[in-house]
Amino acid sequence: MIGIGVIGYGYWGPNLVRNFADIPSVDLRWVCDLQTERLARLRLRYPAVQITEDMNTVLADPKVDAVAIATPVSTHFDLAMQALKAGKSVFVEKPITATSEEAQRLIEEADKRGLVIAVDHTFIHTGAVKKLRELIKGDLGEVYYYDSVRVNLGMFQRDVSVMWDLAVHDLSIMDFVLDARPVAVSAIGMAHVDGSPENIAYLNLHFDCKLMAHVHVNWLAPLKVRRTLVGGSNKMVVYDDLEPSEKIKVYDRGITLDPMAPKAGERINQMRIGYRAGDMFAPQLDIVEALGAELSEFVTCVEQGKGPIADGAAGLRVVRILEAATRSMANGGVVVKLPGERVLA
Ligand SMILES: NC(=O)c1ccc[n+]([C@@H]2O[C@H](COP(=O)([O-])OP(=O)(O)OC[C@H]3O[C@@H](n4cnc5c(N)ncnc54)[C@H](O)[C@@H]3O)[C@@H](O)[C@H]2O)c1
Repeated sequence: MIGIGVIGYGYWGPNLVRNFADIPSVDLRWVCDLQTERLARLRLRYPAVQITEDMNTVLADPKVDAVAIATPVSTHFDLAMQALKAGKSVFVEKPITATSEEAQRLIEEADKRGLVIAVDHTFIHTGAVKKLRELIKGDLGEVYYYDSVRVNLGMFQRDVSVMWDLAVHDLSIMDFVLDARPVAVSAIGMAHVDGSPENIAYLNLHFDCKLMAHVHVNWLAPLKVRRTLVGGSNKMVVYDDLEPSEKIKVYDRGITLDPMAPKAGERINQMRIGYRAGDMFAPQLDIVEALGAELSEFVTCVEQGKGPIADGAAGLRVVRILEAATRSMANGGVVVKLPGERVLA
């Protein structure tokens, strides 16, 4: 059995608790939160789970192998570092940390101690995103663009902007499905509430190939939209996460190019553009709960000392983009280069 402690029982923590409680090889030993009334709610549903307001109590339990951290972003680094130093593997909510330097330090600490560090990039464990990855690696051809909209009348967060709250999902999905990595980013955004971080943002990701990506996130939209378009040279995909079953639709549509004979005196050959409008199909998707699959993977990694799909390095790549986008936004949307892929100095 793998002993687990969950730190943070606010909005998202109960989902971690529910899913850990369903994994047969998990001994869910502790839930910790600073707010006693939240723990009282937990006690009613999970009377066998011990509760505490002090994370040190959890870390002092030798039967706890790993902790899952679902507290505000600004606290992720300190809590995760304390856990690693106490010899516990860590599953931490997205984004992994508030800075890339912090993420790098967590990766180094986990490596040094032979512990697992995983970040909750929930969407990469959904059937839809797994299918999107399969299509991008197969039928789509050369990927030309990735265009994502994630907007709703959302909960304004005090410690993070909409970009650090919602675009994390798009960036982690892109990190998982695309072979290419962005080399630079530019972003604009705005705060409509004084003293609050930006509630609307537009990010452009630049690649050193013929691919462009755009992410639009907004907490001040009248409708909930979760839609991504991916255009390839052979096929195109629409991924709509709000569709109940047909979340992925593959369109056999695009253009055909035929060279035209050059006119006298013209140096460049003109291309004749034709349009191809073939079938649409909606592939069958896995319907397991993503968070359950993700936590099962984490527990297996702790048991076997393996690295998870969304490891510290994946968390770091996403935070590097968010940091660069934040710098761009503060400087009127200038293009900010992303550092190389090497994780450790
Ligand atoms: N993966 C997802 O789809 C998803 C969805 C929502 C939130 N999240 C992430 O989950 C994290 C928490 O978000 P939330 O919306 O649940 O926040 P929240 O404010 O509702 O809950 C956070 C809880 O942490 C507790 N807490 C804070 N510091 C603590 C400490 N030192 N020890 C113990 N408890 C402490 C607070 O008392 C609170 O109950 C964030 O990182 C957020 O980005 C992820």
